[in-house]
Amino acid sequence: MRSRIVVLISGGGTNLQAIIDACKQENYGGEIVAVVSNKADAYGLTRAQDADIATAVLSHKDFDSREDYDSALITEINHYQPDLVVLAGFMRILTPKFVQTYRGRLINIHPSLLPKYQGLHTHQRAIDAGDSEHGVSVHFVTEELDGGPVVLQAKVPVFPEDTAEDLAQRVHQQEHRIYPLVVNWCCSKRVTMTGENAMFDGLILPISGYASEE
Ligand code: GAR
Repeated sequence: MRSRIVVLISGGGTNLQAIIDACKQENYGGEIVAVVSNKADAYGLTRAQDADIATAVLSHKDFDSREDYDSALITEINHYQPDLVVLAGFMRILTPKFVQTYRGRLINIHPSLLPKYQGLHTHQRAIDAGDSEHGVSVHFVTEELDGGPVVLQAKVPVFPEDTAEDLAQRVHQQEHRIYPLVVNWCCSKRVTMTGENAMFDGLILPISGYASEE
């Protein structure tokens, strides 16, 4: 049976689209059962509706506190009984209660080579630092902002004439490759979280070195 995925968005939803497209593959491990946005005008909602996926809008402006908002968000998400909650450009800081509720089945994509550049404006920060490479990370979400164990990263070059927009576009292309891949691994339980570690086929990530030839 396919794993049930709820995707949270705030914006354009190009990563959501990449996962929607991947779910069309016959042997993909998951299906998106709902898309929830904190913004009513997020274009990702249209993408979901076009794919006949249930949508919900929960505006943070309707709540007095972050705790109240996240409690309502948990109620909304649980309605769809997800196996996996996927943050795809959901631009909210999450409360510890939210993170604990979905610990081990909550993943995020962040546009930097973590642990570099947690937070915002990652592309400009990579340019300002004179980095020759930049990229994207998919990680399990823990209480530390953009600090949970990394599952997979993709690197891109930074060229001297790059603007933040050029770099964002280059990174986005890699996001659309690696996020559906990791979502599928989580659905099939090839990727799991044990304690503070991300695991792949039972091995602690990142896997380094070479397997012995024995
Ligand atoms: C993506 O670049 C994603 O990495 C970033 O938001 C964008 C959403 O694009 N997420 C973060 O910055 C989270 N800290 P999309 O709506 O087109 O998928």
